[in-house]
Amino acid sequence: MRKTPWIALGLPVLLAGCASVPTAEEQAAMAADARKASGALVQQLGGELRAAIGEKGADGAIGVCKERAPRIAADLSKSSGFKITRVSPKNRNPAGVPDAWEAQAQAALEKRLAAGEKPDTLETWEVVKTTQGKVFRYAKALPVQPLCLTCHGDPATIADGVKARLAAEYPFDKATGYAPGMIRGIVSIQRPL
Ligand code: HEC
Repeated sequence: MRKTPWIALGLPVLLAGCASVPTAEEQAAMAADARKASGALVQQLGGELRAAIGEKGADGAIGVCKERAPRIAADLSKSSGFKITRVSPKNRNPAGVPDAWEAQAQAALEKRLAAGEKPDTLETWEVVKTTQGKVFRYAKALPVQPLCLTCHGDPATIADGVKARLAAEYPFDKATGYAPGMIRGIVSIQRPL
């Protein structure tokens, strides 16, 4: 009986392994979808934030943010099929601690910002191998705008009512001391492949 050459066994396995890594074009298409989902989150959240500040003032809007921000992200995750969250190395929401990939992604975006890239379009993505298989990961920078300073600015300039409310709701808050143009955090998107 003829022995099957190793190459005949090995090659299809190798090829199958290669084929399951999305091409650069496929990754760019996934990034475009992720960018859209991220934009929807930012827009919806921004709209509700502005409306809540208008109705209840900044201190009243904190409660809305606490309830609505995770809800909006969860709803968008459901409708898009991505897992969408907001995280920051200086998190306010106790659930907003970045994992290792998110931390290095934000650090890389901050380097690009320092090198002169515009904060509004900073994004990065990668296909990451995990024990559960490959995952498409995407990060979009959330730049600090003047509005954000109401609740994330220098503590000396944050209104007393806002400070009191933040202290009550978020005793371990790290998310103050920001200035416009800094990266407050990222929208983090994951899609198992
Ligand atoms: C009315 C106060 C208020 C304003 C204004 C505000 N935030 Fe926040 N922010 C919060 C609160 C409260 C949380 C925690 C709840 C949550 O997860 O959204 C938060 C959380 C976040 C998070 C999630 C990570 C973390 O630290 O927990 C990001 C990112 C963020 N804010 C970015 C921004 C940006 C960018 C702006 C300006 C466009 C902004 N925020 C404006 C109150 C505010």
